[in-house]
Amino acid sequence: TDLSKITHIDVLQRIARRRVPRMFYDYADSGSWTEGTYRANESDFQKILLRQRVAVNMENRSTRSTMLGQPVAMPVALAPTGLTGMQHADGEILAARAAKAFGVPFTLSTMSICSIEDVAEATDRHPFWFQLYVMRDRGFIERLIDRAKAANVSALQLTVDLQILGQRHKDIVNGLSAPPKPTLANLMNLATKPRWCWNMLQTPRRTFRNIAGHVEGVTDLSKLSAWTAQQFDPQLNWGDVEWIKRRWGGKLVIKGIMDAEDARHAVDSGADALIVSNHGGRQLDGAPSSISQLPRIADAVGREIEVWMDGGVRSGQDVLKARALGARGVLIGRPFLYGLGAFGQAGVSRALEIIHRELDLTMAFCGRTDIETVDSGILLDGRRDWF
Ligand code: FNR
Repeated sequence: TDLSKITHIDVLQRIARRRVPRMFYDYADSGSWTEGTYRANESDFQKILLRQRVAVNMENRSTRSTMLGQPVAMPVALAPTGLTGMQHADGEILAARAAKAFGVPFTLSTMSICSIEDVAEATDRHPFWFQLYVMRDRGFIERLIDRAKAANVSALQLTVDLQILGQRHKDIVNGLSAPPKPTLANLMNLATKPRWCWNMLQTPRRTFRNIAGHVEGVTDLSKLSAWTAQQFDPQLNWGDVEWIKRRWGGKLVIKGIMDAEDARHAVDSGADALIVSNHGGRQLDGAPSSISQLPRIADAVGREIEVWMDGGVRSGQDVLKARALGARGVLIGRPFLYGLGAFGQAGVSRALEIIHRELDLTMAFCGRTDIETVDSGILLDGRRDWF
Protein backbone atom coordinates (compact mmCIF):
# COMPACT_ATOMS: atom_id res chain seq x y z
CA THR A 1 0.00 0.00 0.00
CA ASP A 2 1.19 3.48 -0.87
CA LEU A 3 0.61 5.25 2.43
CA SER A 4 1.17 8.67 0.89
CA LYS A 5 -2.18 8.25 -0.88
CA ILE A 6 -3.96 7.93 2.43
CA THR A 7 -4.89 11.45 3.47
CA HIS A 8 -7.79 10.89 5.84
CA ILE A 9 -8.04 9.12 9.22
CA ASP A 10 -11.28 7.43 8.03
CA VAL A 11 -9.27 5.39 5.52
CA LEU A 12 -6.95 4.12 8.26
CA GLN A 13 -10.05 3.25 10.27
CA ARG A 14 -11.54 1.19 7.41
CA ILE A 15 -8.33 -0.76 6.96
CA ALA A 16 -7.97 -1.34 10.71
CA ARG A 17 -11.52 -2.69 10.82
CA ARG A 18 -10.51 -5.30 8.24
CA ARG A 19 -7.20 -6.26 9.83
CA VAL A 20 -7.75 -6.21 13.59
CA PRO A 21 -9.67 -9.00 15.36
CA ARG A 22 -13.25 -8.00 15.96
CA MET A 23 -13.11 -7.70 19.75
CA PHE A 24 -10.11 -5.34 19.68
CA TYR A 25 -11.36 -3.21 16.82
CA ASP A 26 -14.71 -2.88 18.61
CA TYR A 27 -12.93 -2.06 21.87
CA ALA A 28 -11.36 0.97 20.15
CA ASP A 29 -14.33 2.05 18.06
CA SER A 30 -16.90 2.20 20.82
CA GLY A 31 -18.31 4.43 23.49
CA SER A 32 -20.50 3.65 26.46
CA TRP A 33 -24.26 3.04 26.40
CA THR A 34 -25.91 4.84 23.42
CA GLU A 35 -22.51 6.19 22.27
CA GLY A 36 -24.10 9.64 22.05
CA THR A 37 -21.20 11.36 23.79
CA TYR A 38 -18.72 9.44 21.65
CA ARG A 39 -20.42 10.76 18.49
CA ALA A 40 -20.81 14.31 19.86
CA ASN A 41 -17.07 14.56 20.53
CA GLU A 42 -16.48 14.36 16.78
CA SER A 43 -19.57 16.08 15.38
CA ASP A 44 -19.33 19.16 17.63
CA PHE A 45 -16.06 20.15 15.97
CA GLN A 46 -18.04 20.62 12.74
CA LYS A 47 -20.17 23.31 14.38
CA ILE A 48 -17.18 25.62 14.83
CA LEU A 49 -16.53 27.79 11.79
CA LEU A 50 -13.19 29.23 10.74
CA ARG A 51 -12.51 32.71 9.45
CA GLN A 52 -10.95 32.65 6.00
CA ARG A 53 -8.28 35.26 5.35
CA VAL A 54 -6.54 36.03 2.05
CA ALA A 55 -3.60 37.95 0.66
CA VAL A 56 -1.51 37.64 3.79
CA ASN A 57 1.96 36.16 3.62
CA MET A 58 1.59 32.43 4.25
CA GLU A 59 5.20 31.39 3.73
CA ASN A 60 7.45 29.86 6.41
CA ARG A 61 4.93 28.32 8.72
CA SER A 62 5.54 26.66 12.05
CA THR A 63 3.35 24.31 14.07
CA ARG A 64 6.03 23.95 16.74
CA SER A 65 4.94 24.55 20.29
CA THR A 66 5.42 23.21 23.82
CA MET A 67 3.35 21.08 26.17
CA LEU A 68 4.42 21.42 29.81
CA GLY A 69 7.49 23.21 28.55
CA GLN A 70 8.50 20.24 26.42
CA PRO A 71 9.07 21.09 22.73
CA VAL A 72 6.60 19.40 20.34
CA ALA A 73 6.55 19.36 16.51
CA MET A 74 2.83 20.15 16.83
CA PRO A 75 0.69 20.40 19.96
CA VAL A 76 -0.65 16.86 19.66
CA ALA A 77 0.20 13.94 21.94
CA LEU A 78 -0.76 10.28 21.76
CA ALA A 79 -3.40 9.54 24.40
CA PRO A 80 -3.03 6.64 26.81
CA THR A 81 -5.03 3.67 25.52
CA GLY A 82 -5.42 0.27 27.12
CA LEU A 83 -4.64 -2.97 25.28
CA THR A 84 -2.80 -1.10 22.52
CA GLY A 85 -0.58 -4.14 22.08
CA MET A 86 -3.71 -6.00 20.93
CA GLN A 87 -4.39 -3.65 18.01
CA HIS A 88 -1.02 -4.77 16.67
CA ALA A 89 1.72 -6.87 18.24
CA ASP A 90 4.03 -4.64 20.31
CA GLY A 91 1.58 -1.79 19.69
CA GLU A 92 2.81 0.43 22.51
CA ILE A 93 6.42 0.12 21.41
CA LEU A 94 5.57 0.89 17.78
CA ALA A 95 3.41 3.89 18.71
CA ALA A 96 6.11 5.22 21.06
CA ARG A 97 8.69 4.94 18.28
CA ALA A 98 6.44 6.73 15.78
CA ALA A 99 5.78 9.52 18.28
CA LYS A 100 9.48 9.89 19.05
CA ALA A 101 10.35 10.10 15.34
CA PHE A 102 7.66 12.72 14.73
CA GLY A 103 8.54 14.78 17.80
CA VAL A 104 5.31 14.44 19.75
CA PRO A 105 4.75 12.91 23.20
CA PHE A 106 3.59 9.33 23.69
CA THR A 107 1.55 8.32 26.74
CA LEU A 108 1.68 4.75 28.02
CA SER A 109 -1.45 3.47 29.79
CA THR A 110 -1.41 1.54 33.06
CA MET A 111 -3.51 -1.02 31.13
CA SER A 112 -0.97 -1.45 28.35
CA ILE A 113 0.24 -4.81 27.07
CA CYS A 114 3.92 -3.78 26.93
CA SER A 115 5.38 -2.50 30.19
CA ILE A 116 6.96 0.79 31.20
CA GLU A 117 10.35 -0.97 30.97
CA ASP A 118 9.60 -2.45 27.51
CA VAL A 119 8.82 1.00 26.11
CA ALA A 120 11.82 2.68 27.77
CA GLU A 121 14.15 0.04 26.36
CA ALA A 122 12.64 0.08 22.86
CA THR A 123 12.94 3.87 22.56
CA ASP A 124 16.46 4.16 24.01
CA ARG A 125 15.08 5.81 27.16
CA HIS A 126 13.59 8.73 25.23
CA PRO A 127 11.30 10.49 27.75
CA PHE A 128 7.62 9.53 27.52
CA TRP A 129 4.49 10.09 29.60
CA PHE A 130 2.79 7.53 31.81
CA GLN A 131 -0.91 7.36 32.65
CA LEU A 132 -1.85 6.16 36.10
CA TYR A 133 -5.09 4.65 37.30
CA VAL A 134 -5.56 4.80 41.05
CA MET A 135 -5.84 1.22 42.27
CA ARG A 136 -6.95 0.12 45.73
CA ASP A 137 -3.53 -1.50 46.21
CA ARG A 138 -1.52 1.63 47.09
CA GLY A 139 1.68 -0.40 47.38
CA PHE A 140 1.30 -1.29 43.72
CA ILE A 141 0.81 2.42 42.86
CA GLU A 142 3.96 3.34 44.77
CA ARG A 143 5.98 0.72 42.91
CA LEU A 144 4.49 1.82 39.58
CA ILE A 145 5.48 5.43 40.29
CA ASP A 146 9.02 4.33 41.17
CA ARG A 147 9.23 2.28 37.96
CA ALA A 148 8.04 5.29 35.95
CA LYS A 149 10.77 7.45 37.49
CA ALA A 150 13.40 4.84 36.76
CA ALA A 151 12.25 4.63 33.12
CA ASN A 152 12.68 8.38 32.49
CA VAL A 153 8.95 9.19 32.41
CA SER A 154 8.72 12.99 32.18
CA ALA A 155 5.07 13.53 33.19
CA LEU A 156 2.41 11.53 34.96
CA GLN A 157 -1.19 11.66 33.72
CA LEU A 158 -3.56 10.77 36.50
CA THR A 159 -6.90 9.62 35.11
CA VAL A 160 -9.74 10.57 37.46
CA ASP A 161 -12.80 9.63 35.38
CA LEU A 162 -12.60 5.85 35.74
CA GLN A 163 -13.33 5.07 39.37
CA ILE A 164 -15.92 2.70 37.96
CA LEU A 165 -16.11 1.38 34.41
CA GLY A 166 -18.74 2.66 31.96
CA GLN A 167 -20.85 -0.01 30.26
CA ARG A 168 -19.65 -0.70 26.76
CA HIS A 169 -22.04 -3.13 25.13
CA LYS A 170 -19.73 -4.39 22.43
CA ASP A 171 -17.04 -5.39 24.93
CA ILE A 172 -19.57 -7.33 26.97
CA VAL A 173 -21.00 -9.11 23.93
CA ASN A 174 -17.55 -9.85 22.51
CA GLY A 175 -16.20 -11.15 25.82
CA LEU A 176 -13.18 -8.83 25.55
CA SER A 177 -9.99 -10.30 27.01
CA ALA A 178 -6.26 -10.12 26.32
CA PRO A 179 -5.27 -12.49 24.86
CA PRO A 180 -8.62 -13.61 23.41
CA LYS A 181 -10.08 -16.80 24.83
CA PRO A 182 -9.95 -19.74 22.39
CA THR A 183 -13.69 -19.94 21.79
CA LEU A 184 -15.03 -21.08 18.44
CA ALA A 185 -16.26 -17.58 17.55
CA ASN A 186 -12.87 -16.04 18.39
CA LEU A 187 -10.91 -18.67 16.51
CA MET A 188 -13.09 -18.22 13.44
CA ASN A 189 -12.59 -14.48 13.56
CA LEU A 190 -8.81 -14.81 14.10
CA ALA A 191 -8.63 -17.12 11.07
CA THR A 192 -9.65 -14.12 8.94
CA LYS A 193 -6.80 -11.96 10.36
CA PRO A 194 -3.62 -13.81 9.25
CA ARG A 195 -1.41 -10.71 9.29
CA TRP A 196 -2.37 -9.86 12.87
CA CYS A 197 -1.87 -13.47 14.00
CA TRP A 198 1.50 -13.73 12.28
CA ASN A 199 2.76 -10.58 13.96
CA MET A 200 1.52 -11.79 17.34
CA LEU A 201 3.29 -15.11 16.96
CA GLN A 202 6.60 -13.25 16.44
CA THR A 203 6.28 -11.21 19.63
CA PRO A 204 5.49 -12.96 22.89
CA ARG A 205 4.03 -10.08 24.91
CA ARG A 206 0.39 -10.75 25.52
CA THR A 207 -0.51 -9.83 29.08
CA PHE A 208 -0.76 -6.61 31.03
CA ARG A 209 2.94 -6.39 31.68
CA ASN A 210 2.73 -3.34 33.97
CA ILE A 211 0.79 -5.58 36.35
CA ALA A 212 1.70 -9.20 35.59
CA GLY A 213 4.70 -10.20 37.68
CA HIS A 214 4.42 -7.07 39.85
CA VAL A 215 1.61 -8.13 42.17
CA GLU A 216 1.95 -11.02 44.54
CA GLY A 217 -0.44 -13.89 43.89
CA VAL A 218 -1.27 -12.71 40.37
CA THR A 219 0.29 -15.61 38.53
CA ASP A 220 -1.97 -16.40 35.60
CA LEU A 221 -4.36 -14.61 33.30
CA SER A 222 -7.56 -15.38 35.17
CA LYS A 223 -6.02 -14.14 38.45
CA LEU A 224 -4.82 -11.04 36.62
CA SER A 225 -8.28 -10.16 35.27
CA ALA A 226 -9.88 -10.85 38.64
CA TRP A 227 -7.32 -8.65 40.41
CA THR A 228 -7.66 -5.81 37.89
CA ALA A 229 -11.46 -5.90 37.88
CA GLN A 230 -11.69 -5.17 41.61
CA GLN A 231 -8.74 -2.74 41.74
CA PHE A 232 -10.18 0.48 40.24
CA ASP A 233 -10.83 2.55 43.34
CA PRO A 234 -14.38 3.94 43.63
CA GLN A 235 -13.26 5.91 46.71
CA LEU A 236 -10.72 8.04 44.84
CA ASN A 237 -10.74 11.64 46.13
CA TRP A 238 -8.71 14.84 45.82
CA GLY A 239 -6.67 13.89 48.89
CA ASP A 240 -5.40 10.87 46.96
CA VAL A 241 -4.46 13.17 44.09
CA GLU A 242 -2.35 15.31 46.43
CA TRP A 243 -0.73 12.17 47.82
CA ILE A 244 0.20 11.04 44.30
CA LYS A 245 1.56 14.49 43.47
CA ARG A 246 3.84 14.34 46.53
CA ARG A 247 4.89 10.74 45.91
CA TRP A 248 5.67 11.42 42.24
CA GLY A 249 7.26 14.84 42.71
CA GLY A 250 7.34 15.59 38.97
CA LYS A 251 4.93 17.10 36.46
CA LEU A 252 1.36 15.97 37.09
CA VAL A 253 -1.51 16.10 34.59
CA ILE A 254 -5.11 15.45 35.68
CA LYS A 255 -7.05 13.66 32.96
CA GLY A 256 -10.83 13.58 32.75
CA ILE A 257 -12.12 17.03 33.76
CA MET A 258 -15.46 18.21 32.33
CA ASP A 259 -16.54 20.71 34.96
CA ALA A 260 -15.15 24.08 36.04
CA GLU A 261 -15.49 23.24 39.75
CA ASP A 262 -13.50 20.06 39.25
CA ALA A 263 -10.95 22.06 37.29
CA ARG A 264 -10.50 24.25 40.37
CA HIS A 265 -9.93 21.15 42.52
CA ALA A 266 -7.32 19.97 40.02
CA VAL A 267 -5.44 23.27 40.34
CA ASP A 268 -5.66 23.17 44.14
CA SER A 269 -4.31 19.63 44.26
CA GLY A 270 -1.10 20.79 42.60
CA ALA A 271 -1.61 19.73 38.97
CA ASP A 272 0.56 21.29 36.27
CA ALA A 273 -1.97 20.65 33.52
CA LEU A 274 -5.43 19.19 33.10
CA ILE A 275 -7.13 17.42 30.23
CA VAL A 276 -10.70 18.33 29.37
CA SER A 277 -11.89 14.82 28.54
CA ASN A 278 -14.84 12.47 28.80
CA HIS A 279 -12.60 9.47 28.14
CA GLY A 280 -13.50 9.45 24.46
CA GLY A 281 -17.20 8.97 25.25
CA ARG A 282 -16.46 5.71 27.05
CA GLN A 283 -17.56 6.63 30.57
CA LEU A 284 -20.53 8.96 31.23
CA ASP A 285 -22.77 8.72 28.18
CA GLY A 286 -24.92 11.84 28.15
CA ALA A 287 -22.00 14.09 29.03
CA PRO A 288 -21.40 16.94 26.55
CA SER A 289 -18.56 16.82 24.04
CA SER A 290 -15.12 17.78 25.33
CA ILE A 291 -14.70 20.63 22.85
CA SER A 292 -17.98 22.22 24.02
CA GLN A 293 -16.70 22.44 27.61
CA LEU A 294 -13.18 23.58 26.76
CA PRO A 295 -13.83 27.37 26.67
CA ARG A 296 -15.41 27.59 30.11
CA ILE A 297 -12.71 25.44 31.71
CA ALA A 298 -9.96 27.42 29.98
CA ASP A 299 -11.60 30.61 31.27
CA ALA A 300 -11.74 29.19 34.80
CA VAL A 301 -8.16 27.96 35.21
CA GLY A 302 -6.26 28.58 31.96
CA ARG A 303 -4.18 31.35 33.50
CA GLU A 304 -2.98 29.06 36.28
CA ILE A 305 -2.22 25.74 34.59
CA GLU A 306 -2.06 24.38 31.05
CA VAL A 307 -5.43 23.24 29.73
CA TRP A 308 -5.43 20.42 27.17
CA MET A 309 -8.32 18.51 25.66
CA ASP A 310 -9.06 15.20 24.00
CA GLY A 311 -12.02 13.50 22.37
CA GLY A 312 -13.05 13.59 18.74
CA VAL A 313 -9.90 15.14 17.25
CA ARG A 314 -9.74 13.61 13.77
CA SER A 315 -7.90 16.25 11.73
CA GLY A 316 -5.57 19.19 11.97
CA GLN A 317 -8.57 21.48 11.70
CA ASP A 318 -9.80 20.09 14.99
CA VAL A 319 -6.39 20.71 16.57
CA LEU A 320 -6.50 24.32 15.38
CA LYS A 321 -10.07 24.83 16.67
CA ALA A 322 -9.13 23.42 20.07
CA ARG A 323 -6.13 25.72 20.22
CA ALA A 324 -8.32 28.70 19.27
CA LEU A 325 -10.72 27.84 22.10
CA GLY A 326 -8.01 27.76 24.75
CA ALA A 327 -6.27 24.37 24.65
CA ARG A 328 -2.49 24.48 24.79
CA GLY A 329 -2.47 20.98 23.28
CA VAL A 330 -4.66 18.02 22.39
CA LEU A 331 -4.40 14.25 22.64
CA ILE A 332 -5.53 11.75 20.04
CA GLY A 333 -6.71 8.22 20.83
CA ARG A 334 -8.53 6.42 18.04
CA PRO A 335 -6.75 8.13 15.14
CA PHE A 336 -3.41 6.60 16.12
CA LEU A 337 -5.00 3.26 17.09
CA TYR A 338 -6.54 2.95 13.62
CA GLY A 339 -3.18 3.73 12.03
CA LEU A 340 -1.54 1.14 14.26
CA GLY A 341 -4.12 -1.56 13.50
CA ALA A 342 -3.89 -0.86 9.79
CA PHE A 343 -0.11 -0.58 9.26
CA GLY A 344 1.76 -0.85 12.57
CA GLN A 345 4.35 1.87 13.21
CA ALA A 346 4.08 3.27 9.67
CA GLY A 347 0.34 3.72 10.21
CA VAL A 348 0.85 5.71 13.41
CA SER A 349 3.37 7.89 11.57
CA ARG A 350 0.87 8.35 8.76
CA ALA A 351 -1.89 9.37 11.19
CA LEU A 352 0.44 12.03 12.61
CA GLU A 353 1.40 13.23 9.12
CA ILE A 354 -2.24 13.50 8.06
CA ILE A 355 -3.10 15.59 11.09
CA HIS A 356 0.01 17.73 10.75
CA ARG A 357 -0.58 18.51 7.09
CA GLU A 358 -4.19 19.52 7.67
CA LEU A 359 -3.15 21.65 10.65
CA ASP A 360 -0.48 23.43 8.64
CA LEU A 361 -2.80 24.14 5.67
CA THR A 362 -5.76 25.22 7.76
CA MET A 363 -3.63 27.58 9.80
CA ALA A 364 -2.40 29.19 6.59
CA PHE A 365 -5.94 29.57 5.20
CA CYS A 366 -6.82 31.36 8.43
CA GLY A 367 -3.99 33.78 7.76
CA ARG A 368 -1.54 32.64 10.44
CA THR A 369 1.96 31.29 10.01
CA ASP A 370 2.85 30.48 13.62
CA ILE A 371 0.67 28.29 15.80
CA GLU A 372 1.78 30.26 18.85
CA THR A 373 -0.22 33.26 17.53
CA VAL A 374 -3.45 31.29 17.06
CA ASP A 375 -6.33 32.52 19.21
CA SER A 376 -10.09 32.92 18.83
CA GLY A 377 -9.40 35.53 16.14
CA ILE A 378 -9.16 32.65 13.64
CA LEU A 379 -12.81 31.71 14.32
CA LEU A 380 -15.76 33.31 12.53
CA ASP A 381 -16.50 36.65 14.25
CA GLY A 382 -13.94 35.67 16.91
CA ARG A 383 -16.71 33.62 18.52
CA ARG A 384 -15.99 31.44 21.53
CA ASP A 385 -19.60 30.50 22.37
CA TRP A 386 -20.42 27.84 19.83
CA PHE A 387 -22.43 25.67 22.15
C1 FNR B 1 -8.90 4.97 25.99
N1 FNR B 1 -8.71 5.98 26.94
C2 FNR B 1 -7.96 5.71 28.07
N2 FNR B 1 -7.65 6.70 28.95
C3 FNR B 1 -6.87 6.47 30.02
O1 FNR B 1 -6.61 7.38 30.78
N3 FNR B 1 -6.35 5.22 30.23
C4 FNR B 1 -6.61 4.17 29.40
O2 FNR B 1 -6.12 3.06 29.62
C5 FNR B 1 -7.46 4.40 28.29
N4 FNR B 1 -7.77 3.39 27.45
C6 FNR B 1 -8.43 3.67 26.26
C7 FNR B 1 -8.58 2.66 25.32
C8 FNR B 1 -9.17 2.95 24.09
C9 FNR B 1 -9.31 1.87 23.07
C10 FNR B 1 -9.63 4.26 23.80
C11 FNR B 1 -10.25 4.60 22.48
C12 FNR B 1 -9.50 5.24 24.75
C13 FNR B 1 -9.15 7.34 26.66
C14 FNR B 1 -8.09 8.10 25.85
O3 FNR B 1 -6.96 8.38 26.62
C15 FNR B 1 -8.63 9.43 25.32
O4 FNR B 1 -9.21 10.16 26.37
C16 FNR B 1 -9.64 9.27 24.20
O5 FNR B 1 -9.29 8.21 23.36
C17 FNR B 1 -9.71 10.54 23.37
O6 FNR B 1 -10.70 10.45 22.41
P1 FNR B 1 -10.44 10.05 20.86
O7 FNR B 1 -9.22 10.81 20.39
O8 FNR B 1 -10.22 8.58 20.86
O9 FNR B 1 -11.69 10.47 20.22
